[in-house]
This record gives sequence, C-alpha cells and structure tokens, in this order.
Amino acid sequence: MSLLEVRDLVVGYGPHPVLHGVSFEVEEGELCVLLGLNGAGKTTTVSTIAGLLRPQSGQVLLDGASLGRRSPSARVRHGVSLCPEGRRVFPRLTVRQNLRLGAWSRRRSPRTVRQQLDLVYDYFPRLVEREDQLAGTLSGGEQQMLAVGRALMSRPRLMLIDEASLGLSPTLARTVWEVTSQIKADGTTVLMVEQNAGVLPFADRALIMEKGTLLHTAVGSAIHDVNLREAYLGA
Ligand SMILES: Nc1ncnc2c1ncn2[C@@H]1O[C@H](COP(=O)(O)OP(=O)(O)OP(=O)(O)O)[C@@H](O)[C@H]1O
Ligand SMILES: [Mg+2]
Repeated sequence: MSLLEVRDLVVGYGPHPVLHGVSFEVEEGELCVLLGLNGAGKTTTVSTIAGLLRPQSGQVLLDGASLGRRSPSARVRHGVSLCPEGRRVFPRLTVRQNLRLGAWSRRRSPRTVRQQLDLVYDYFPRLVEREDQLAGTLSGGEQQMLAVGRALMSRPRLMLIDEASLGLSPTLARTVWEVTSQIKADGTTVLMVEQNAGVLPFADRALIMEKGTLLHTAVGSAIHDVNLREAYLGA
C-alpha cells in the first residue's frame, strides 16, 4: 500500500476547477518530485493534500485511509507537514521560536521537540549560528532552510515541500535538494514541488503536471530517460 494516494482530485478556487482529476501515489520512503511550469497546479495539489483547500471531488488517502475533511492541523497530527511556497517564516520571531512553533503538535513531548531541533540543526548548521536572529533578517537562502526545518519539527511521515529552490543560487538550490535527499534517507517520505528539472537526479519518482492534469509519471531509471525531460521541457 502506498503512503500517499491522491485519487481523482478536482479542485478549484471558484466554479471552474484548476485540477481536472489528478491521481498518483507516493510509496513510503520515496522522494517524489512534482514538476510543472507556472500555473500547472502544483501548489493547488500540495495545498489540497495538506488540507488547506477542499476538493470538489476526489480523495487524499494516507496509508489507504481517506483524510476526508480533516483540518490542516489534524493532518499534521497524522504526519503530513507542508513547507509552503514563499517560505512564510514568522519574520518577527527568532529562528528558534519559528522552529518550536513547527513542533506545536508535539508540544506535550519536550523530548521529541528537543530531538527534532537537534536534527534540524544537524541538517542546517547555519541555523544554529542564527538561532537568536529574527527570521525576517535572514537571507533568502537561510529563510528557506528555516522553512524546511520548521516543517520537519512536527516529525512528519510525509513532507510536502513547495518550490524550495525558487530564488536560490544554483549552489544553494543543490544544497537544499541534497539535504532533502538526506531527510528521505533518514526515513521521511517527501513530495517535492519544483520547476527546475535539475532536481530530477534526486528523485525516485517524477510526476509531470501541465494545466491541471498529470502528463507523465516516471519511476526509478525511467526518470533519467531523455523523453521525460522532453515531455517536461516541451510542455
Ligand atoms: N487563490 C487563487 N484564486 C484563484 N485562482 C488561483 C488561486 N491560486 C491559484 N489559482 C489558479 O490556479 C492555477 C494553478 O495555480 P497553482 O498555484 O496551483 O500553480 P503552480 O503550478 O503552483 O504554479 P507556480 O509554479 O507558478 O507556483 C493557476 O491558473 C492560478 O491562477
Ligand atoms: Mg506554486
């Protein structure tokens, strides 16, 4: 059984859907990349999985059970955590305060919070140096690290990361993907939204989205097939 199954999602912001029946699965332990151009529907897809948008029809299943109309916070307790597009850190709180807020669902277990904090600091040593700095004064790259770190603080089973590489230098984007790969290797399943095909070498599964539908799915070695790049670049 897949950890995540998205079944026939139809989602819109008004009467007209922008997702026209999107279905895919992500296996436990995978790093899955959802690629597509501006407006393809990537953010709409992960926002629906996180419970921020209600589908007109279709379902999101975790471990084979529908999440139904569960709220975003209930989904966090079920192990689904979103690192949103545009970082959205709390600018007037420090790095440490931002991270601790990410562990709100774990607040009754200070030991878990401490462990997750240590883990995030292992992944992003830069954040240790900046622990007491206000998040709003961090560089763009540091804010992105903080956003990924904050999403990790709830100790999710499934991390949704929406365009972490946007606005980062190629080197920094690579660093974020490498850390994401490590997060996956340490046991967290990841669904990562990207526009940059440079992420493909890190993926176990790639989904290509265009105009609210899935155009192509590739698993394993098929990801490195030139046809996939053509399908994406030609989209
Ligand atoms: N709040 C909103 N109200 C109305 N339409 C929206 C809203 N958010 C997104 N849309 C529309 O839904 C479609 C899909 O948008 P979405 O943000 O999911 O795309 P995306 O693939 O994440 O694009 P990008 O790479 O630019 O972030 C677009 O046509 C967009 O204009
Ligand atoms: Mg988006």
